[in-house]
Amino acid sequence: MRVNHVGEVCAQALYQSQALTARDETVRSQFRQAAAEERDHLAWTARRLDELGAHRSRLNPFWYAGAFVIGALAGRFGDTVSLGFMAETERQVEAHLNGHLDRLPEGDTRSRAIVAQMKADEIAHAEAATAGGGLPFPTPVRQGMKLAAKVMTTIAAKI
Ligand SMILES: [Fe+2]
Ligand SMILES: [Fe+2]
Repeated sequence: MRVNHVGEVCAQALYQSQALTARDETVRSQFRQAAAEERDHLAWTARRLDELGAHRSRLNPFWYAGAFVIGALAGRFGDTVSLGFMAETERQVEAHLNGHLDRLPEGDTRSRAIVAQMKADEIAHAEAATAGGGLPFPTPVRQGMKLAAKVMTTIAAKI
C-alpha cells in the first residue's frame, strides 16, 4: 500500500506539471481533472496506511519532485506526447494494481476495495489520454519506463 501511495504522489505531481505545460486548453483541463482524481487516490491510500499502522515513504518529497520534472519534460514535447506518456503510465499502473490485487489477502476487503476503484479510474485515465490524441510510445521507451517504475517500487516498498 506504501508503493501505491508513492505511485499516487507521483501521479498527481506528473499531472500537475503536465497541466502547467499543456498547450491546448482541453488537454490542460484533462490533466487537471486527472490530477484531482489522483489526489483522491492519494487520500485513500494515506488513510489505509494509517489504519494499517504503516509509515509513508520517507522519500515522498523526492518522488514528488522527480515526477514533477518528468511531467514537465513530457509536456515540453507537446500535447500528443504528453497524453501518450499518460496513457502508457496508466497502463503500467493498471498492471501493477492487478499484481497487487493478486497478492492481497481475500480478507483485506478495505485494501481490495481501494485498489479496485483506483484500477477502474486508472483505466479511464488511460482511455481518455488515448482518445484525446495520445501517441503510442515505441517499445524501448515503454521498457525504459517499466525499468524506472521497477526501481521506484522496489525502493518505495522499503524506505
Ligand atoms: Fe491513481
Ligand atoms: Fe490515474
